[in-house]
Amino acid sequence: MGIIFHEEEQLFQLETLNTEYWIGIADEMYLGHIYYGKKIGDARCAYLLKTGERPFVPSKNRKEKASFTDSFPYEYPTWGTGDFRESCLNVRTAKGYRGCELFYESHAIIEGKPGLFGLPATFCQAEEQIKAKEGTEQNIADKAKSDLPGAGGQTLEITCRDPFLNLKVILRYSVFDDSDAIIRSAEIVNEGAKPVYLEKVLSACLTMDDENYDYLTLNGSWARERHIEKTPISHGKQGVFSERGISSHQEHPFLAVLDRNADQEQGRVYAMHFVYSGNFLAQVEKDPFDSLRMVMGIHPEGFCWELEPGMHFTAPEVVCMYSSEGLGKMTRNFHDLYRSHLIRSPYLHKKRPLLINNWEATYFDFDTDKLLAIAREAKKHGIEMLVMDDGWFGQRNHEYCSLGDWTVNQSKLKGGLEYLVEQVKAEGMKFGLWFEPEMVSPDSDLYRLHPEWAMQLPGRPATQGRGQYVLDLSQQEVIDYVYESVAKILRSADISYVKWDMNRPLTDVGSLYTEGKKQGELFHRFVLGLYQMQERLLKEFPNLLLENCASGGGRFDPGMLYYSPQIWCSDDTDAIERLEIQEGTALLYPLSTMGAHVSDCPNHIVGRSTPFTTRGHVALSGTFGYELDITKISKEDKEEIEEQTALYHKYQPLVREGDYYRLASWRENHHFDCWEVAAKDKSEALVTLVQVIAEAAFRSRKIRIKGLDAEADYLLEETGQVAKGSLWMEGGLLVPRDNGDFISHLYHFVRQ
Ligand code: DGJ
Repeated sequence: MGIIFHEEEQLFQLETLNTEYWIGIADEMYLGHIYYGKKIGDARCAYLLKTGERPFVPSKNRKEKASFTDSFPYEYPTWGTGDFRESCLNVRTAKGYRGCELFYESHAIIEGKPGLFGLPATFCQAEEQIKAKEGTEQNIADKAKSDLPGAGGQTLEITCRDPFLNLKVILRYSVFDDSDAIIRSAEIVNEGAKPVYLEKVLSACLTMDDENYDYLTLNGSWARERHIEKTPISHGKQGVFSERGISSHQEHPFLAVLDRNADQEQGRVYAMHFVYSGNFLAQVEKDPFDSLRMVMGIHPEGFCWELEPGMHFTAPEVVCMYSSEGLGKMTRNFHDLYRSHLIRSPYLHKKRPLLINNWEATYFDFDTDKLLAIAREAKKHGIEMLVMDDGWFGQRNHEYCSLGDWTVNQSKLKGGLEYLVEQVKAEGMKFGLWFEPEMVSPDSDLYRLHPEWAMQLPGRPATQGRGQYVLDLSQQEVIDYVYESVAKILRSADISYVKWDMNRPLTDVGSLYTEGKKQGELFHRFVLGLYQMQERLLKEFPNLLLENCASGGGRFDPGMLYYSPQIWCSDDTDAIERLEIQEGTALLYPLSTMGAHVSDCPNHIVGRSTPFTTRGHVALSGTFGYELDITKISKEDKEEIEEQTALYHKYQPLVREGDYYRLASWRENHHFDCWEVAAKDKSEALVTLVQVIAEAAFRSRKIRIKGLDAEADYLLEETGQVAKGSLWMEGGLLVPRDNGDFISHLYHFVRQ
């Protein structure tokens, strides 16, 4: 494992557990992509760069340079000098000339992995938690460097230059000793004498021949996030993107190119996932030569970054993952990477307090007594934390006011927040609180005082979303104010958990503070402001359990995972709708990150009624909790809560730490859904099966279990049956037919 420079061949070899990535320095110092995939272990691979019929480099035929630039597999393509495919870097000079061409200059291979200043980033070892140094100016290059000697990984920094602009581009590639991920990012440094304007800076590019590949994305909407979609790749550009200022419900910053017949166990999969929470572009392009270019980065729409001489711009990270063993292996690779190298929370490997949230129970209609009644009843049934959701501050009795006024509504919460928290604690429970810090309501004291703090285009009435405006987080003054108003509340009482919400996309992205040429920086500066606030929060309250949320799962991305170990998956809590949402989410994210609660029926979003047991089983594959008025549900449901909380305690460590296998998808078979979590030491496995729609004339179904020790005996707890791991894995578990819809089962296998 590691990174090697083959001097004679002028090749870089990046080796991970099971994959290799090769980069070549071609004649004239062009940097080209040679290979990514299973290990080949042979530095004689440079010939793979020479794909064209025509002369290899311009020096051999300058008159036909355009033929070269149009097909060379650039490692980091630029715009304007003859590469007509999607570029990663577009640069404009002060005079308006556009064009850039990069040449290899030098490289360094360093131990460990530098942090990215102001940005979330994977790190070498969880214990070390590489952090960028203190500071607020993103342009100070040295601050981007972590000085931690990173055992557990290596980083290749390739420096390229455009000699005409004197623009330096540092391409970074990191590998870890225990992962198949290759982490890429790019840093642009203006070493010229005049400012330049970065009109597009993507983070990564990958070139390969098309071998009849499909591409796979995650798509949806509010309450229908991250549904898996597979599409054949055709000529031209295709992919997903967000221009909403958040990673979005609609499309996810992820793209995989995969064999047409790839499934959970076999087939080649090339995946990219963006460690960022704002606008993104994830695209694959099939060119006229049938080669593919995959790119990922900040979406160029609305983006323009002024880079003064001496200044740096750092593009966020992209995780590249190759699997030759289908989607299942890709999934487990991502889960392991995020658990070991991205999530920093002290709760990562700990049982999270089992919570009850009052949103679906009361919406805005609550007071201290009502909340305490819920807490008391919840405690009796094994629940450990009460979370007070939206509606506790200002005059907030509906959606259309008070965001920004983070002071307790004393007429609702008699005795104030401190009293409520103390009473909840006296019941033996912890307390959690909801915020939506990035927003301001037009009907709020904050807006009346500081209308200029809202994003807006002067003279144009700003577009409201859920009756609110977006705060201008490009301004340090605004960030400081918002942070302080949240922190002040957290300092005032014993609050164990925060749900950080965000309920609208960005529109009217203009700042009254920023000069004309800086307006193109606002989308990104907003995200940097958000990251800064969350970083400060974690620093001041290191034991806080933070759950991010954006109208459900509108900002469920690796960037946010760097700050919070769990993210609210979706506002749709219906157990059946959740199957597809959680399948798509678990394609990339560990189950321990997926906020999932049992709610009441008929479900508030889709009106469906499902058995309480099924709701519990589906939520058990996430963080687990409740979102209902426990004082109002039936005696039977209450009793079942006690059983479910016992299941939570029994299975939570396995669900949190185990290997995830997707065994069947109701999206594909239209009848049942099935997944498994197997302990890494193969001591146990838990299978969840949901029969969604019953079938007539149906016999028992065989489900092949995964991840067991073939030679060991396993007891199936639910039936008492014992069989060898090999039998469970090859012969399978016989699942009897259920008579009815929405019925679920858990199957627990324990090594004897
Ligand atoms: C959207 C969240 O997803 C919900 O869980 C809830 O917190 C509401 N916002 C509150 O406004």
